[in-house]
Amino acid sequence: MTREAPQVREVSTSSLVLTPAVVAHRGASGHRPEHTLEAYRTAIRMGVDDIELDLVATRDGVLVARHDLELSATTDVAERPGLAHLRRTLVVDGVEQHGWFVQDLTLAQLKTLAARERMPDTRPGNTAYDGVEGVPTLTEVLATVRAESARRGRPVGVALELKHAAHHDAIGLPLDVPLLRELARQGLDHPWARVTLMSFEAPVLRRLAARTRLPVVQLLDRGHRLTSVELDDIDDYADGLGAHTSLVLPRDAGGAAGAPSSLVRDAHRRGLTVHVWTVRAENRFLPTDLRRGTAPDALGDMAGEVRALLAAGVDGIITDHPEQALAVLRETPVPAVG
Ligand code: G3P
Ligand code: CA
Repeated sequence: MTREAPQVREVSTSSLVLTPAVVAHRGASGHRPEHTLEAYRTAIRMGVDDIELDLVATRDGVLVARHDLELSATTDVAERPGLAHLRRTLVVDGVEQHGWFVQDLTLAQLKTLAARERMPDTRPGNTAYDGVEGVPTLTEVLATVRAESARRGRPVGVALELKHAAHHDAIGLPLDVPLLRELARQGLDHPWARVTLMSFEAPVLRRLAARTRLPVVQLLDRGHRLTSVELDDIDDYADGLGAHTSLVLPRDAGGAAGAPSSLVRDAHRRGLTVHVWTVRAENRFLPTDLRRGTAPDALGDMAGEVRALLAAGVDGIITDHPEQALAVLRETPVPAVG
């Protein structure tokens, strides 16, 4: 990125700039229900560099940690008779969904819900934590990260993903306004604050880049092969890319990971970092050549995928199983300086 002060990346300790970084996806979501404070604490205990969280807004404009606007996959909302009247159909970014939506609940209503495991069949151990916690606000997550960082004597970064930003704009609940306000309130609106802002949506990232010097990361979904013109365009406003793993290690027709693409090289030439998502240990998520046995929910060779991604030059691994990525990093020799 070249918009201003290009030296910031080199001197900054901002989130996602320590590389290669291990970033806990929705917390240590392989071990706890996603986006619970215990998921974040577990990840920090494991030693992650950063936690990743998704942000959406309640009806009264409070930012909360949820991946989906629809709540029934990760909370007990469907069992709350007092909220039954809020069930409806909503089109979010062109996709019709049925259920209960964060934007329809006040924070007080949301706070009556209990969080639960999204994938109980794949991660049955996580269901032991169903109902233990509610849905945390951004404020609560930042306080938890601050407290855990202080307790452990090491800084932990946060990578904040703005979900459905254009949709929130359209319903009068823009995410970037309360986000920047909260970061400023917490003294986290400077480049060395270890906070990174991410989105799949370029317009909100451009807006943020114009209003903050926090690092901005353009997320790229699977199948999104960038042209060099698109990459130049991203370089105008972003500091890095958050790419689906298959954009770095394309999979063949059988689902096996092949030789690295040129994405990391092309990004690094422009000074853009590359973090990859989402590395998960269960067979169903791994390239076919790294699966062990035939059970989809058994653990495969995630370490093999991490090694291949690191060999491809990525700057960070965003993962549900941070302990496995950290173990690989510990086995990797640090190159001699000079
Ligand atoms: O960190 C990027 C990654 O989280 C994007 O995918 O769907 O898990 O938010 P998703
Ligand atoms: Ca995310």
